[in-house]
Amino acid sequence: MRDPYRVWLSEVMLQQTQVTTVLDYYPRFLQRFPDVAALAAAPLDEVLAMWSGLGYYSRARNLWRCAQAVMAQHAGRFPGSAEVLATLPGIGRSTAAAIAAFCHGERVAILDGNVRRVLTRLLAFDEDPMQPGPQRRLWALAEALLPPAGGDAAMQAYTQGLMDLGATVCLPRKPRCTDCPLRADCRAARSDDPSAWPVRRARPVRRRMDSILVWLWREGSVWLERRPDQGVWAGLWTLPSFDDEAQVQAAFAESNLDWRVLPARLHVLTHRDWWLQPWVADWTGSGNPPGGGRWCSIDEALQLGLPAPIRAWLQSPESSTPRPRR
Ligand code: ADE
Ligand code: SF4
Repeated sequence: MRDPYRVWLSEVMLQQTQVTTVLDYYPRFLQRFPDVAALAAAPLDEVLAMWSGLGYYSRARNLWRCAQAVMAQHAGRFPGSAEVLATLPGIGRSTAAAIAAFCHGERVAILDGNVRRVLTRLLAFDEDPMQPGPQRRLWALAEALLPPAGGDAAMQAYTQGLMDLGATVCLPRKPRCTDCPLRADCRAARSDDPSAWPVRRARPVRRRMDSILVWLWREGSVWLERRPDQGVWAGLWTLPSFDDEAQVQAAFAESNLDWRVLPARLHVLTHRDWWLQPWVADWTGSGNPPGGGRWCSIDEALQLGLPAPIRAWLQSPESSTPRPRR
């Protein structure tokens, strides 16, 4: 049986470090810490010193914490199953599976970054594998591809082969399909661009939008307008909206209003962060404010179709006690 301590150490080192560098560090680390007991007993500083140059030092800290957990909770022996291994510090699902497959021939799937690339290409998996749903489906597909139950050797060869393909053949930018043993079965290899997998969901660019919402009062009533039938808040009743201060000043130039500015509130839309800045005033002008609209008591207004943030405002204490001008 391969020594789980050694397999664990090499897997953690290989997670974010080139094989050639690991070949240098691995024997030195093993010489200083030949087993899990030696590692657990060492001061953390010494472990970090042996790790120095490998980068991603949280790996070294987790390595040390994991060694202590193996000593304290598992009597100094690494657990035999992937499921229990995955409960230890710094051992994720894929690393746990690699240790269990290499040491015990357990039939469990691995899915680290390299293997994710191989499998998404092989299957032309057309969803972003980092999203929770697709990730679950890809794990299930990885399990379905495992070799049939047999000797330990089959799982070891399969797991190492998949890792090596990802590390040396199915490269991120330039997959070497002509050298690849999976070529005949690979759906990506039949496409114009095998490197297009794994696909990444395009994150929508969030834009900021600012509006001033004019909140006019007259004898306990508020002035509301109906939105056009197109666009955001189509057909709903809302406070008159303006793009900026200049527009407000122009629209109410004749009215000589005493504005109180309330703190802006964020309204999150699918592709926009919409900052809504209320300007409050008592309507002292003659007739009605410009534009079509109607005066409504708060109770009347709450009977209308209102956008959620407007409804919340009209119900908030601010609607009856406007703050002083800022
Ligand atoms: N990367 C992580 N584990 C590996 C392994 N066992 N062989 C090759 N590359 C790896
Ligand atoms: Fe990757 Fe090409 Fe091999 Fe498919 S054939 S697994 S794309 S290297």
